Amino acid sequence: MAMAVTRVAVLTSGGDAPGMNAAVRAVVRSTIARGGEAFGVEHGYEGLLEAAIRPLNLGDVGGVLDRGGTFLGTSRSERYRSPEGVAEAARILKEQDIEALVVIGGDGSYRGADELAAHGIATVGVPGTIDNDINGTDTSIGFDTALNTICDAVGKVRDTASSHERTFVIEVMGRDSGILALYSGLATGADCILVPEVPWGLDDVCAAVAQGVARGKKHSIIMVAEGAAHAFGLAEDLAEACAHRVRTVVLGHIQRGGAPSGFDRILASRMGAEACSALAKGESGVAVGLRHADTVTYPLKEAYASAHVLRREIYELAKVLSL
Ligand code: F6P
Repeated sequence: MAMAVTRVAVLTSGGDAPGMNAAVRAVVRSTIARGGEAFGVEHGYEGLLEAAIRPLNLGDVGGVLDRGGTFLGTSRSERYRSPEGVAEAARILKEQDIEALVVIGGDGSYRGADELAAHGIATVGVPGTIDNDINGTDTSIGFDTALNTICDAVGKVRDTASSHERTFVIEVMGRDSGILALYSGLATGADCILVPEVPWGLDDVCAAVAQGVARGKKHSIIMVAEGAAHAFGLAEDLAEACAHRVRTVVLGHIQRGGAPSGFDRILASRMGAEACSALAKGESGVAVGLRHADTVTYPLKEAYASAHVLRREIYELAKVLSL
């Protein structure tokens, strides 16, 4: 289908996520394949306000499919958050005859895209965040890679934990969401998973550790979402309460780096292409999602008005399987 809009810009915004480059590549190549022209905005909304916009051709997105980070650069822009900032961004895009903007990022970036749509720029959001906290999509670009990075790191921690018969508190990212921690805990067989969505107490953590020790386990792994507790404080409390040898690992930004997994490369490619297909249909103010293996679009508002709900049955499953 030919495009309803022909000059399409793309930016990456918020925390970077592995697979963002693959999504930019898909937007650029799908736009050109439909007879349009593609543009890249550097450093997210901050770069947009500086008019840091350049044409992107087929070759400009060669060799990026398997690269982590975002070659366009990203930012969290304070300036863009004001109504004046949004109006200025719309003016800059219109001045360059750019009719549409694809925003690859998280819920804050989506809000910005929705505000821009109200100024007559066609906008589409593509979910790029390791947090997987965006409502309306089964998953987001970068989540799978971050999960694999965490699995790899926890495997290494487990080796030393069992050699020394220690308990490790491992803190993972996720902002206010416990989804990354939950999936990481389930995938690594953690003895206890602490997420902001489920109330917990120190007694629960001690009981989980004691349960493992009672059946002869040589190590315990407590997986903590950054939004549920601070790992160092928790480790101190735990050592005092259970008189156990406790060590702490905060995985930090390594979770955001590295080459995207095959899954994320495919997800990003499909979602970037879906964004262009939405623009071709004349859609604006929509987010791309993955639902039951299909790419879909739905209102941006739906995506940022409420958070992606942590599936309680998966939390319960992780508890049962860690017995
Ligand atoms: O949203 C992605 C994320 O990595 C969160 O998990 C984390 O809380 C935050 O970004 C960290 O942000 P920064 O890179 O600014 O420290």
